[in-house]
Amino acid sequence: MDQEHHTEICPATRPRRFYDCTLNEKLLYSSFLLLAGLAYLMALAYLYTSFDNIDGKPGLSVEDIAENYYGNRSGTRLESAIRGSMAGYIETEQRSHIAKWLKSGAPEEEFKRTIQPIFTERCVTCHSAASGLDVPDFTSYEGVKQVANVDTGVSLHSLMKVSHIHLFGIGLVALGIGLVFRFTLLPAWFQHTLTLLPFVAIFSDISAWFLTKWDPVYAYTVIIAGGLLGLSWALQITISLYQIWFLRCRPEIGSEDDG
Ligand code: HEC
Repeated sequence: MDQEHHTEICPATRPRRFYDCTLNEKLLYSSFLLLAGLAYLMALAYLYTSFDNIDGKPGLSVEDIAENYYGNRSGTRLESAIRGSMAGYIETEQRSHIAKWLKSGAPEEEFKRTIQPIFTERCVTCHSAASGLDVPDFTSYEGVKQVANVDTGVSLHSLMKVSHIHLFGIGLVALGIGLVFRFTLLPAWFQHTLTLLPFVAIFSDISAWFLTKWDPVYAYTVIIAGGLLGLSWALQITISLYQIWFLRCRPEIGSEDDG
């Protein structure tokens, strides 16, 4: 390979550090980091208030995350009713009929053929507008459908929408913070790791959203990856801000004493 035509002499200078930056650059970087940090805190607060109560219990938990993406598939309101409070009105065989119908997605044709007769015989004395009770109306497919939907969480379509916005947006913010962070004076392995971490974290986080739709156990990955993103940004921002304003170079001792 004829390398000489494709390469040039490596610059012998050390990388730039914050103390090589002009005051104008320092002001620019500091303001950007502070705003980005504030934006991140705002995002956290927003996340908390929108996920907080999904599982019906206050406080953000793994269950909230799992239920948001995976849904609550332990069953439909109809299924819990025929196994629970309404079990006395129905025979075992009819119950398994309805359960099987629910599992197959509660199709309308099958409802007309085998399911509606059960409701008519067993349930509509109470479950109709005529009864005057405040209960779901089971005289039509639409009425039954209201308690027959399985909650499968956020739709794939809106997941794709949120994902691409996050990948573009967070990617750019990670680039911005990383471009400032590259001026820090740190052990090389630490600086490289911390530079890559936000990108790895956001990739894992968003992948885990999709995985959680498939299996709720990945809600843990969502939380761990989200935590890593926060941690790596917090470190990048605080180390950068500190070094921008407090790190001084040592004058005249040696020439290339960088890390
Ligand atoms: C004797 C009257 C009566 C009969 C018969 C009856 N129900 Fe109900 N059902 C009620 C009442 C009252 C409620 C509201 C209070 C409750 O949830 O216990 C209700 C509530 C429900 C709910 C809503 C539960 C929820 O999550 O809100 C479902 C689903 C249900 N019934 C299904 C059935 C089915 C299926 C049958 C027939 C096998 C049936 N019921 C028969 C009186 C009845």
